[in-house]
Amino acid sequence: MKKQQKTAFFCQNCGYESPKWVGKCPGCGEWNRFAEEPTAPKDSRVPPEFQFNEKPRPIDAVEADEKARVKTGIGELDRVLGGGIVAGSAVLVGGDPGIGKSTLLLQVMHRLASAGKRVLYVTGEESAGQIRMRADRIGASSKSLYVLVEVSLENILKYIKEVVPDAVVIDSIQTVYSSLLSSAPGSVGQVREASERLIILSKKTGIPVFLVGHVTKDGSIAGPKVLEHMVDTVLYFEGDSGHSYRIIRGIKNRFGPTNEIGVFEMRDRGLVEVANPSEYFLTERPAGMAGSVVVAAIEGTRPILVEIQSLVAATSFGMPRRTAIGVDGNRVSLLVAVLDKIGGLHLGNHDIFVNVAGGVRLAEPAVDLGVVAAVASSFLDRPVDPKTVVFGEVGLTGEIRGINRMEVRIREAARMGFARCVLPRTQLRGGPRVEGIELVRVDHLRGLMEHLF
Ligand code: TYD
Ligand code: MG
Repeated sequence: MKKQQKTAFFCQNCGYESPKWVGKCPGCGEWNRFAEEPTAPKDSRVPPEFQFNEKPRPIDAVEADEKARVKTGIGELDRVLGGGIVAGSAVLVGGDPGIGKSTLLLQVMHRLASAGKRVLYVTGEESAGQIRMRADRIGASSKSLYVLVEVSLENILKYIKEVVPDAVVIDSIQTVYSSLLSSAPGSVGQVREASERLIILSKKTGIPVFLVGHVTKDGSIAGPKVLEHMVDTVLYFEGDSGHSYRIIRGIKNRFGPTNEIGVFEMRDRGLVEVANPSEYFLTERPAGMAGSVVVAAIEGTRPILVEIQSLVAATSFGMPRRTAIGVDGNRVSLLVAVLDKIGGLHLGNHDIFVNVAGGVRLAEPAVDLGVVAAVASSFLDRPVDPKTVVFGEVGLTGEIRGINRMEVRIREAARMGFARCVLPRTQLRGGPRVEGIELVRVDHLRGLMEHLF
């Protein structure tokens, strides 16, 4: 009689294993994410392909791999990667369907192929003909760009060993399945198995691999929260199909800075780098309108100027609404409360909407002052001077706190032709000094209003 295979329940988000079904995952706190899957065969022997057969050695006898970085030639991407592709690294590229993952990676592969490298593009989602059509569209046909339509992990590994490419793309990791496991493609077990074996192969051979990962509706990479731990670098596409710009953000990077962003625009011939993001995000700004304020934010290592918009309108029915897009909603509620109590604006019976123009997401407290200024401007129906940039953190007592890298932000504002910058008054003597732009230092919300309007 055939021995029945053991199963367990796995969280499809983070991979947490449980002997019985549970509603809320104890691992990641998500609801309703458990599914039954066969457990991985418990084999005590480590298969030879998982063994590195190395001996311990002193760290100064180990050579750093720094020279092994390969530039893709796409500057915005190279920066997010920390200077290029590192040999033997695994990069996870996540994002919503249709946002441009396949397009970007095909462009990257084309660049590498044109530079004389041999590259392999494995797809389980499209036919070779479809890839060719896209390649023609973005001008990416090259003799050393190999395409493989395959979903079987064993075959993919076999062909990687056969072709010995300089880089591999797996589009997508959710379509790959191993015949060693009986669970369905896309399940946590399969995704983990496939990634693990691809990553091991990559580490052993030094071939960098890009894994494309689909994203679930709540924004995390489907199933594979586990994946984020396994790979070296996690890149994440932001922006929606309604806008033509795309941001690639490094969420995790073992070989470079995190939170670095690359800005691209989706054109009819693929993704094109945006060299001057500040200019790009400010092109449609309605200068001189109430409720519009420009803030100097830092994304990764780079300053960018973005516009924060707010609309404050009397509530016509029931509870006042507070809606924030692009900034944290709780943060906005807090700032509105500070404006109400300390700033003396009576916002209690008003609906308040805050939006970061262009769909950018801002997470640093430095944009507090921008939110406050935009809300106040809309409420008072008085425009903020269009040549003014603001930044600074706002505390609960209405104090305006210093933030990091002020000088970089001021320089960016000056470079973009702004005449005035409203910023925190810091304890540091002198503070940042930049030519050609007037600096207005404020330390409290009360003083702020006089300077803004
Ligand atoms: P794609 O790379 O297939 O997305 P993903 O792999 O993340 O699912 O991107 C497809 C979208 O990009 C599709 O809506 C069409 C658009 N697109 C362009 O606008 N220009 C182009 O040159 C290409 C190739 C795609
Ligand atoms: Mg795709």
